Amino acid sequence: MPAAAPTFSTLPRHIAVIMDGNGRWAELKGLPRHKGHEAGARTVRTITEECARLGVGRLTLYAFSAENWKRPKREIDFLMKLLKRYLAGERPTLMKNGIRFTAIGRLHELSPEVLAEIEKTKAITRENPKMTMTLALNYGGRGEIVDAAREFAGDALRRGKVPELTEDEFAKYLYDPAGAEVDLLIRTGGDHRVSNFLLWESSYAELWFTKAFWPDFGIPQLHEALGDFAKRDRRFGGLTER
Ligand code: IPE
Ligand code: IPE
Ligand code: MG
Repeated sequence: MPAAAPTFSTLPRHIAVIMDGNGRWAELKGLPRHKGHEAGARTVRTITEECARLGVGRLTLYAFSAENWKRPKREIDFLMKLLKRYLAGERPTLMKNGIRFTAIGRLHELSPEVLAEIEKTKAITRENPKMTMTLALNYGGRGEIVDAAREFAGDALRRGKVPELTEDEFAKYLYDPAGAEVDLLIRTGGDHRVSNFLLWESSYAELWFTKAFWPDFGIPQLHEALGDFAKRDRRFGGLTER
């Protein structure tokens, strides 16, 4: 008999993942780096489906950072090709699982072919009710805050006055205001840094680091992170009532 699926007393509403370690996973196996990215794309499917099944509301995955353009052209070309293939191939799975797809980042700087796949996937999955899955593409956290500030300034110019600015008001200018709070931030691959991911959104996120490379991060590893999250005491600067 298969083991009963675990239940968690508290589930994060929004999980964000820095999917790191694809290249090292491949190198360790004597494979070219792109094999690691292919394996990583399979992990995206597993983790996305499991999060939706568990009832997580939002899953944001760091797929390509604004800094990743520094990589060799060959690797970037492969990643963009993989992204197109992933989006086209994943639409039936997203539909089957009721997952809405979105993307954040400076998307207009991506190629028209990639943009077209993003738009198509967004449009087809728009009404899906179960979970929102967001890919961060050409994304940088500082860039997002600067873009939000630019939008805010543009609004002020149009209105001829500077609107009242609070944190909640500013968050409306983020790429996806509905994703403005991250509850659990996971980074695979063994490094302990945020690499310019969701700087505003993670201000009170619980952090979970694992040495596992992203292609090896499976359902048991996700459950381990969720089990630990459920035990955390989130004080938000306050005190726990005892
Ligand atoms: C993460 O894996 C995927 C992307 C950044 C696109 P890496 O490609 O960074 O893999 P490592 O960190 O070099 O092992
Ligand atoms: C972070 O991984 C970006 C993604 C997972 C897309 P990197 O491999 O680019 O980050 P650094 O260079 O180790 O900080
Ligand atoms: Mg890396």
